[in-house]
Amino acid sequence: MTDASRIAVVGAGYVGLPTAAVLARFGHTVVCAERDDTRFGALAAGRVPVLEEGLAELVAEVVGNGSLRFVRSAAEAVHGARFVFLCVATPEAYDGAADLSFVQEVATEIASALEPGAIVVNKSTVPVGTALAVERITGATVVSNPEFLREGTAVRDSLRPDRVVVGADDRRAARQVGELFSETGAPLIVTDTVTAETIKYASNAFLATKLSFVNALAGLCESVGADVRDVVLGLGYDRRIGFDFLRPGPGWGGSCLPKDTAALVHIAESVGYDFALLRAAIAANEEARERVVRKVEEAAGGDLSGRTVGVWGLTFKAGTDDRRMSPAVDVTRRLADLGVSVRAYDPTVPPGPVPTDLADLEGMVLCADAYDACRGASAVALLTEWDEFRGLDFAKVADLMASPALVDARNLLDPAALRRAGFSYSGVGRP
Ligand code: UGA
Repeated sequence: MTDASRIAVVGAGYVGLPTAAVLARFGHTVVCAERDDTRFGALAAGRVPVLEEGLAELVAEVVGNGSLRFVRSAAEAVHGARFVFLCVATPEAYDGAADLSFVQEVATEIASALEPGAIVVNKSTVPVGTALAVERITGATVVSNPEFLREGTAVRDSLRPDRVVVGADDRRAARQVGELFSETGAPLIVTDTVTAETIKYASNAFLATKLSFVNALAGLCESVGADVRDVVLGLGYDRRIGFDFLRPGPGWGGSCLPKDTAALVHIAESVGYDFALLRAAIAANEEARERVVRKVEEAAGGDLSGRTVGVWGLTFKAGTDDRRMSPAVDVTRRLADLGVSVRAYDPTVPPGPVPTDLADLEGMVLCADAYDACRGASAVALLTEWDEFRGLDFAKVADLMASPALVDARNLLDPAALRRAGFSYSGVGRP
């Protein structure tokens, strides 16, 4: 029998875990399924396996008051649940399409265990039309409820989202799912599944295009001698443009923007539409990464082969331990391909053996701190905007390097202070 508000969340990853914890915080009873041994082991032992501000505290609170618990199997989690949230990964397949095997696997696994009348809610980012496929597999009503949280601020974003989108052919079911989030006070958009699924891709594609625009603009600023930070200030005060998501950097990455832009290009192709604008945004992202490599080359005085380069930051942005599709890792790879000896430091990556996802960078030395990473280096590339890089003793950094040259791919540091410390400094889009 279903409990009127019992919720199952399948998957305790970067989306599933904050979703489960926040729904529990809103007063619902939540059971979250995680089949990965390491992840489940950590959660069962009271540890949160991802770095996410405020999440460990929130999980401890809701587990402590009995509103959230973890189980191993999805079938167990859905037992007695009125709402079943699917929060599983949809990685990129070889051709840019979204790989739906996890969604399909879970849908098949839960099909026979679902309670009569249970509503399946799809939070995973899936191609337009997937809700119908999940409906066919499970026989249940499926509501598409795309997630817009960002890694690093997942708890804040989930407690106070800009909007809640619910899409279903059965609008009553969509509204019921929307009501689970009523405490957020966010505007509720009730629509059909295809539209809800499109909203998710459109949001990430727009954000990616915005970033590609500002990164290309930064390149232009360098050529004409303008300062991109002031240009962005001048743009941002126009309320139609705004200030958000306009920080130039080494290109955009992470587990969502690259995968979702590729998937949307693929979706468009499959219906005979050439989304040339989005393809250009993706190409501009390649250029942004390559420009950082060229700057490091220049900073090191030309040929990089045989040189040592220090790398500060490996995660795809600060505030997360996620390195999936990280621009920092990509730039590091490009440097290694040019024959560079890489010494890297990231506050979330322990020194010592290179982790498996970086196996192709096996010659890379992972250092215990930012100073150690620049020992003997001809240049340092700051690739992730970790706050701790601001507070370094740059005179000490300069002493440790073969020649004090710094490429600040995040415009994090103060060029004047660095020049005083004897550095040649190169930022993004700054004269
Ligand atoms: C992104 C979206 O922002 C979320 O709304 C969405 O829910 C999520 O994908 C998803 O689909 O799951 P996320 O992947 O956590 O969130 O990362 P972002 O904060 O969007 O950053 C993406 C990349 O853009 C990073 O490499 C970041 O460093 C870069 N970025 C972001 C900039 O270079 N400049 C900026 O001003 C903002």
